[in-house]
Amino acid sequence: MQMLLYCSMYRGSPFERDRDIEMILDSASRNNKQHQLTGVLLYDEGAFIQLLEGQKSDVDALMSIIKQDTRHKKIRIIFYEEIRVREFEDWSMKYFDCGKANRLSAESLERFRAIYLNNFKVSSEHALKFIKHMVQEPI
Ligand SMILES: Cc1cc2nc3c(=O)[nH]c(=O)nc-3n(C[C@H](O)[C@H](O)[C@H](O)COP(=O)(O)O)c2cc1C
Repeated sequence: MQMLLYCSMYRGSPFERDRDIEMILDSASRNNKQHQLTGVLLYDEGAFIQLLEGQKSDVDALMSIIKQDTRHKKIRIIFYEEIRVREFEDWSMKYFDCGKANRLSAESLERFRAIYLNNFKVSSEHALKFIKHMVQEPI
């Protein structure tokens, strides 16, 4: 299996954003289950950070579709590596808006932003730790 993490920038206007995200999540829930793709989509002030996991051929096929999607730009792969077990097996595409995450400290959010905004070189474990911390359900 393969895990891919990338980030990109949303292209639309703030007025279109909620609807665009809703449509993206509709596509994800329709298609990802069928291909046993799982993962997380984070939105943070105009940036998307998406983690995809599944069979290599499925991850590659979806990524080539996503790369052509005009709703975003500046797509940058953060890591792409082989995995043995899934990290997000329960979610065909978990959505999380970082801006609405008031349980996150400003410091954690800044550190996470450094990962994708400044092309920060991180190990996949480090990036995963942040993502898991972000999306964990409030207690
Ligand atoms: C940031 C971003 C993430 C996306 N994630 C997914 C995804 O996980 N699964 C998916 O099927 N489409 C995803 N899409 C949408 C695809 O680019 C494409 O529009 C969609 O797969 C087309 O399938 P449909 O005709 O069934 O809607 C994403 C698009 C963007 C901009």
